[in-house]
Formats: sequence, structure tokens, C-alpha cells
Amino acid sequence: MSSDKRFKHLISIDELSKDDILYILKRAEEFEDIAKGKKVSKILDGKILANLFFEPSTRTRMSFETAMKRLGGDVINMTDTEISSVAKGETLADTVKVVSNYVDVIVLRHPLEGAAKFASENSSVPVINAGDGAGQHPTQTLLDLYTIQKESRLDGAKIALMGDLKYSRTVHSLIKALTLFKTKIFLVSPEILRLPEEFIEELEGDFESAELEDVIDQIDVLYVTRIQKERFPDEEEYRKVAGSYIITPQTLENAKDTLIIMHPLPRVNEIDTSVDATRFARYFEQSFYGVPIRMAILSELLL
Ligand code: NCD
Repeated sequence: MSSDKRFKHLISIDELSKDDILYILKRAEEFEDIAKGKKVSKILDGKILANLFFEPSTRTRMSFETAMKRLGGDVINMTDTEISSVAKGETLADTVKVVSNYVDVIVLRHPLEGAAKFASENSSVPVINAGDGAGQHPTQTLLDLYTIQKESRLDGAKIALMGDLKYSRTVHSLIKALTLFKTKIFLVSPEILRLPEEFIEELEGDFESAELEDVIDQIDVLYVTRIQKERFPDEEEYRKVAGSYIITPQTLENAKDTLIIMHPLPRVNEIDTSVDATRFARYFEQSFYGVPIRMAILSELLL
């Protein structure tokens, strides 16, 4: 690996400067036609990616796979920990040491915060964090920023982050990056799902807690998240907030014409499907943008 890489692993969005982020977004734009299958590329011919997924995933795993394959590379998957040696008690450190001898890059999703950092310390190849517990999800953040840049505007945007701000790693990652773009952030959540104090400190004052109806007429982006049921220590606590916010076309009656609605997906019921046909919905475009963004990340790490 040459030493002029902008990053050696991708564990947390904090490791990237604003310039690094803008560079990845620009590269993603260049990869769009290849991501759509309109152009063919073999720049990652001979490279192999390993997906190590200890938590469910559809988009992240499959878009990494698509990105790699459309660039001529190959992918191996360890997604079912029940049939791998993890079921025999193999440690994450040993799994990573072994797999990093097989491949050129590892993509890891794990339920424990800090797992990706730990994996990078045991890997001889770059590790990409595809979500570590309620911690970070930097590739999602890059595709979220790309979506905002393409479908709205990044600098100075007014953005409402809505839903489970306590456990959503997509929010925890995104918030750190948004501070670089002088955005105004509104935090919209049920009381027990408020943003943890450590992230509030990082917002450096440029945020407010709000009710959606009070800000819907001024925001440029509404970023909705699912309640992260699997991270609740107590099922009863989850039941108290389940279904407590649902976006419908009525919710959006006073929205700006140019509002965009984003969601990292999967959605459960936070956005009613009747919103999909409105001019505001961008969550399916957003999930497509994961492909060119991940192409940009892989080419930075592997070439
Ligand atoms: C998110 C995740 O895994 O954090 N999914 C994704 O990668 N698009 C969001 C979620 O699970 O709610």
C-alpha cells in the first residue's frame, strides 16, 4: 500500500478532514456511470474483499459487493456466524488475522462499539467499519453527505435528525461530519431517545431540540431513523416508543418545496409508504448512492 493514501482504514468519520470528504464525494460522482452499469471498469481486477458481518445487513453488504464486482474485483462473505468458526468460539482477533491473509480489504459489521478499531489493529489489510454497535458507520455517512450534496445542498443546510438519536450509529457518524459544513441541526426525538451528551458537546452549539411541526417549513433535509430495537436493554422500554413517530403526507403539508427526506433504511413504519410517491422522498436514491461512494472508498484504499 503506498503511503500517500488519505486513510489507511476507515473506522470513524473523524479520521477524515473536510477535504478528504469532498474528495471522496467528487470521486463518487466519477464512478456513477460504472455503478449504474453504463460503463465497464476493471480497476480492481485481482483484488478480493471479505465481508465479515456479525449483524444483519442488506444494503451495506450488497452495495460493497456490487461496488467491488462492478470494478472487476471479487468478494467473499462470512455472514452466517452460525456456520463459521465463530460458532466454535473463535475470537474476532483470530478471525481477522486469518481473513486478512486471504484478502485485500475487510468490511466488518459488529454489534460491539470499538470492534472495527480492534479489528484494524489485528489486520494486515485495510478494515472498513460497516457499523459497530451504536458507534460509527462512516461509509453510510459519506453516502448521506453525497445524497445531501446532490439532492439539496451541504453548506449551510438546515437539517432535522429525527427518531432514535440515542442508538442510531448513522446519526452519531453523520453529526460529526455535518459540523464541518456549517449546517444548522434540529434534533427531533422522543424524550427517551435523545442524543447522548457526548455528541451534543461536539455540535458546538449549532443545534436545537425541536418538534417537527415547528421546523418543517424551514428545513432542507429531514433525516429519519428507525428505532434501533436490537440495542434496547429492555424490551419494555422499546414498547414505550414503538410507533411514536410516523411521517405521512399530512406531516409534510407545510414543508418547503425543495425539502428532501432521507432514511438510511431499513424502515419499519417511521415513513408511511404513501410518502414514497411525493416529491420529497429520496431514500431509495440515497441507497443507490452507496454504490459509487463505496467504489470511491475501495479505490482509495486499494489502488
Ligand atoms: C443502518 C445501520 O445498520 O446502522 N442501516 C444501514 O446500514 N443502512 C440503519 C439501521 O439499521 O437502522
